[in-house]
Amino acid sequence: MRTKFLLGNWKMNKGPKEAEEFASLSAPLVDLAAAHHLEVGVAPTFVSLASVASHKPTQLILSAQNCNEHDHGAYTGEISISMLKEIGVTHCIIGHSERREYNGETSEACNLKIKALLANSLTPVYCCGESLETFEKGETLSFVSEQIKKGFASLTPEEAVKVVVAYEPIWAIGTGKSASSEIAEATIKGIRDVLKELYGSRAEEIRILYGGSVKPNNIAEYMKCPDIDGALVGGASLTIESYRELVEGMI
Ligand code: 13P
Repeated sequence: MRTKFLLGNWKMNKGPKEAEEFASLSAPLVDLAAAHHLEVGVAPTFVSLASVASHKPTQLILSAQNCNEHDHGAYTGEISISMLKEIGVTHCIIGHSERREYNGETSEACNLKIKALLANSLTPVYCCGESLETFEKGETLSFVSEQIKKGFASLTPEEAVKVVVAYEPIWAIGTGKSASSEIAEATIKGIRDVLKELYGSRAEEIRILYGGSVKPNNIAEYMKCPDIDGALVGGASLTIESYRELVEGMI
């Protein structure tokens, strides 16, 4: 049985003060989620992680949006996993399409970060997803399969089951044009088939989230799909009210 997971990706929103306010008000929705065996978390920007860490209820998962794979050293502007761990971060988004697009992150680079996170007992949330052009050419599955194979390269089954995958079609991110639940389920099932090729029946343990214009009014549709194990949500995770409605939609 895979535990459903809702992760709010705050992207470059909410400085420390606003993030603290959210964390301080989040106890009721975290309790509601826990009562229904849902995992819930937020991924603030780096400078807001510490303020969320010191004001959040224990059960609110704290995720970073990126990390560096090296432990320390001459990497100006970078943040290591041990630094994140020190302030209470347990999860880290890797390979978000915005980082792939604006920061040139490749699946090979993501693989190094995933391995480093696992070595430090943090949970990677590995993002994959195709452009509108790839979608329209009908090449979604081959494109996403490649991202999965490269991201999971040389992971053992024991490591692989600790990774959370997030399928986020680029054309659905921030556009209000979400993938239908049929499309999301079909692609996510395809991703699970790739993971089955790699890890056999242990692939059933790997959680795969959908992301891309998930809102309080459509989250329930995704949650009905057998292969979709939760959601990675941008815009609709930014206010307590909307986040709470997302949780309610998952119940
Ligand atoms: P939106 O929910 O704003 O479309 O963003 C999705 C996303 O990129 C989450 O990582």
